[in-house]
Amino acid sequence: MPSGVPRPSGPFVPAGTVRIFDTTLRDGEQAPGAGMTAAEKLEVARQLARLRVDVIEAGFPAASAGDFEAVRRIAQETKGGIAVAALARCRDGDPQRAIEAIKVAERPHLHVFIATSDIHLKHKLRMDREGALAEAVKWVRYGRKALGRDAEIEFSAEDASRTDVDFLMQVYEAVVEAGASTINIPDTVGYAIPSEFAVLVERAVKLVGDQATVSIHCHNDLGLATANTLAAVQAGARQVEVTINGLGERAGNASLEEVVMAIRTRPTQFPDLASHVQTEHITAASRLVSYLTGFAVQPNKAIVGGNAFAHESGIHQDGVIKNPLTYEIMTPQSIGLTGSQLTIGKLSGRRGLQGKLRELGHDVEGEALDAIYRQAIALADAKKEVTDADLLALVEQRVAEVPQSVRLEGWNVTSSHGGKATGMVSLAVADTERAEAAIGNGPVDALFAAVDAAVQPVFGWHPVLESYEIKAVSGGEDAQGRVLVRCRRSSDVGPGALVVSGHGLSTNIIEASVEAYLVAVNKLHGAEIGPASPAFVAQRTTEELP
Ligand code: KIV
Ligand code: ZN
Repeated sequence: MPSGVPRPSGPFVPAGTVRIFDTTLRDGEQAPGAGMTAAEKLEVARQLARLRVDVIEAGFPAASAGDFEAVRRIAQETKGGIAVAALARCRDGDPQRAIEAIKVAERPHLHVFIATSDIHLKHKLRMDREGALAEAVKWVRYGRKALGRDAEIEFSAEDASRTDVDFLMQVYEAVVEAGASTINIPDTVGYAIPSEFAVLVERAVKLVGDQATVSIHCHNDLGLATANTLAAVQAGARQVEVTINGLGERAGNASLEEVVMAIRTRPTQFPDLASHVQTEHITAASRLVSYLTGFAVQPNKAIVGGNAFAHESGIHQDGVIKNPLTYEIMTPQSIGLTGSQLTIGKLSGRRGLQGKLRELGHDVEGEALDAIYRQAIALADAKKEVTDADLLALVEQRVAEVPQSVRLEGWNVTSSHGGKATGMVSLAVADTERAEAAIGNGPVDALFAAVDAAVQPVFGWHPVLESYEIKAVSGGEDAQGRVLVRCRRSSDVGPGALVVSGHGLSTNIIEASVEAYLVAVNKLHGAEIGPASPAFVAQRTTEELP
């Protein structure tokens, strides 16, 4: 190691542990349309901390002022031995920005990367191998010097699985020599096959010995992300990079819940290995991420899909009743699914509600608990029974609250068979009273058009609806309806346009629709105000995200 560069005090992964590096807030958030506000990212980070992942990759600070701010706030808040990572390209400006954002963390983790495959070097970076190697060494050394012995410095060779293996090993050797304590092998385009990936991992493990931890990062383009991740663990990788629900670029990343539950459920295949994850918080984490990003979890998704523990056929039902082990390889309780459905009635108390929410994976107290309690009691008045799903919907709705530059004062709509609808809204827009009426194809369309007309003169843009979905939260004809909209600003066009999601929840679907539309308007406005606003949305400006 060159003089002046401290040796890492690691290895940082204790024997017998698979370190869980969650990148939902970085790679996951890169999925088009999955953008979260800084406040939402913070809420996900809190849930990841409850889950007890080892590392939270909070974002890519050089990408935007919003991402920088979100990473800094997560770094400031996250305690209890959980590391906070920030991503940086190997180029002037990026690592400095990342270090600035994470230096306040209890355990800072700098993650620098550069592509190493010939196809990326030639067509994307227009650099030769020697140039890439020199940049990798330069920025790893820089990070080690800046953050000292005790920080994690991770190096990723982007597109490693399509990189010439001898060159890849040369790069890893050089970055470990320069101070990297983790070397990551990304299967960036989801190209690897488990048996071949295991061979690559084994070679890297042999190369670095106990000088560094070998990590892997698998994408799901061939549906093999989890399989490749598990093969890599069996080959000696001791850090896995994963996301909740497998969220991520294109077909996504390896999913945290699949990898963690596979290691836990098949101990003989992973002898003497465990993660720290408190698996009973998985369901709450999955729901929260799905809710905040607007990315639904498919019903047949492993572990967290709605049907993952549902048994339809008579033979299966009969077996499960006699002994759940006949058709269930893990218990629903182990991932935080509670058996009870009926939860709260008009006479229930705050404490009962708090206990129930804790059972569902949410620690809620103080003002937040009071507010949810009031809403739950009102709901118990409006519908026959308040279920777990109703309660979770109320908690999630609260989490996603954004500052209200636009407030709803009232709405009215008339609609008849075969005719157009007329909607009227009355709003407070940046403290100006605005009332507008508009005609539409149906009641929701008419009300959205009236909101557009009220907002346009004040903001200089109106929301443009990209998609609209409606779903019943629980069963029964009195179920609450949850509406999800995705919108952009009319002034923001082209492929880079910021798209935000908004949710509304009510037993009245028109009310839920207007609520969802206004959440989206407020997020779009928050993004415009910039990082000072807690609703500031990470709007990326870099052209070549990994
Ligand atoms: O997929 C990828 O290569 C990445 C790296 C930055 C780890 O996300
Ligand atoms: Zn990735």
